[in-house]
Amino acid sequence: MPLLGVNIDHVATIRQQRRAFEPDPVKAALICQSAGADSIVAHLREDRRHINDKDITALKKALQIRFNLEMSIAPDVVAMACQTRPDQVTIVPERRQELTTEGGLDVVRNFKKLMPVCSKLKDRGIAVSLFINAQIEQVDAANKLGISIIELHTGCYADANTARLRAAELKKLIHITRYARTLGLEVNAGHGLKYHNTAPVALIPGMHELNIGHSIISYAVFVGLERAVKEMRSLSVSSTLKRRR
Ligand code: PXP
Repeated sequence: MPLLGVNIDHVATIRQQRRAFEPDPVKAALICQSAGADSIVAHLREDRRHINDKDITALKKALQIRFNLEMSIAPDVVAMACQTRPDQVTIVPERRQELTTEGGLDVVRNFKKLMPVCSKLKDRGIAVSLFINAQIEQVDAANKLGISIIELHTGCYADANTARLRAAELKKLIHITRYARTLGLEVNAGHGLKYHNTAPVALIPGMHELNIGHSIISYAVFVGLERAVKEMRSLSVSSTLKRRR
């Protein structure tokens, strides 16, 4: 079975709703670590809408498992990566207005821009991964850049709304994984994977790691909500009893 990377951006999203200190994404990352996650993924967006520079520094310091920093090639973000030196960087396309990463990186078109960034990161001892669509030409371009890892965007598979479409998207992922493995690339996948659609992707031969965020954090709300309410309820009951005494 592939490894599991947990994306904790959504914990920071809740924190930023209040510009408060909680919930702390580092604390969340440590829980994921002790629950068996193989790596932690955090996306330092150009607008710092959820994860910020302080989180990145703190995550690097606190984690014992692999830290995978997702980012664009904006110069200040690349500088932050070079300074912090996460174990891995995953380069993603980024549009300011998007809600989440929409589609993979166009490595073919951005080859010249990516080359110096990949070299710089590799020189700092950081493993570089490129988040791409499941297309042969993107795999070939990634391979030409001399990087060792790709992450396949599973959005089309996750969004497929008929069994036939889903099967076709899965077939593409299987085919591209096989092809990339023949080139010696490590193959990861992620985006839109949920509890009901992850197993077929996990079973793809040669798949190394799945990176999953939204569905895990969403499910965690329901797994934890009952206890959270009970603990607050018992606090208010015990303070009422104290007042009565
Ligand atoms: N991998 C990459 C490169 C991503 O950009 C994202 C989304 O932040 C994920 C994995 C996780 O996607 P999701 O939150 O839909 O599980």
